Amino acid sequence: MNKTKIAVLISGRGSNLKALIEACAQPDFPAEIALVISNKKDAGGLKYAEEAGITYKFIDHKAFPKREAFDMAIHEEVIVSGAQLICLAGFMRIISAEFITLWKNKIINIHPSLLPAFKGVDTHKRALEEGCKYHGCTVHFVVPDVDSGPIIAQSVVEVRDDDTEETLAARVLEKEHEIYPRSLRLVVENKYLVKGHRVETWG
Ligand code: GRF
Repeated sequence: MNKTKIAVLISGRGSNLKALIEACAQPDFPAEIALVISNKKDAGGLKYAEEAGITYKFIDHKAFPKREAFDMAIHEEVIVSGAQLICLAGFMRIISAEFITLWKNKIINIHPSLLPAFKGVDTHKRALEEGCKYHGCTVHFVVPDVDSGPIIAQSVVEVRDDDTEETLAARVLEKEHEIYPRSLRLVVENKYLVKGHRVETWG
């Protein structure tokens, strides 16, 4: 099977990276991970790349004078890897509009809320504070506005009366690990729907 090469960008724990590695290991999954990049040297997720024999790189954002320069370093590594699509998986850097333009409709992100609710950080805490009855996660295309962009998939969890930030986060995370590989497949196979319509942006 001819698999589409992807790059995964992380900053931390890497549980979504692990879910993507496991999905890509399936013979009938249409993508393979060519490169993992972390902007944190001690990101826990790097061990999953190492264990799976995937090329990984640490690129320190603090070593660059400007955001755009850091982003271009990532761009060059992704090009060298042959990846055609970039998955953000807990990558805690805002990406420049220049980079997003270079990779238009080729960057996807997972966010731990039902967007457009709760963009930004502390999503589970905020959902509890608002008394939400339902919460969840979203995979979406990346556009210059943070945590915006066409939605590819969402998954919903019911909020329980006795939920804490931790218990809610754990249930949402399980859903994240389901929808990220599923969304990646939809994008690679050009089968995602945006606003109910099938669109073909994949060249
Ligand atoms: C996830 O909750 C993801 O939705 C958010 O950052 C967290 C990353 O977790 N963008 P992990 O590093 O994949 O375990």
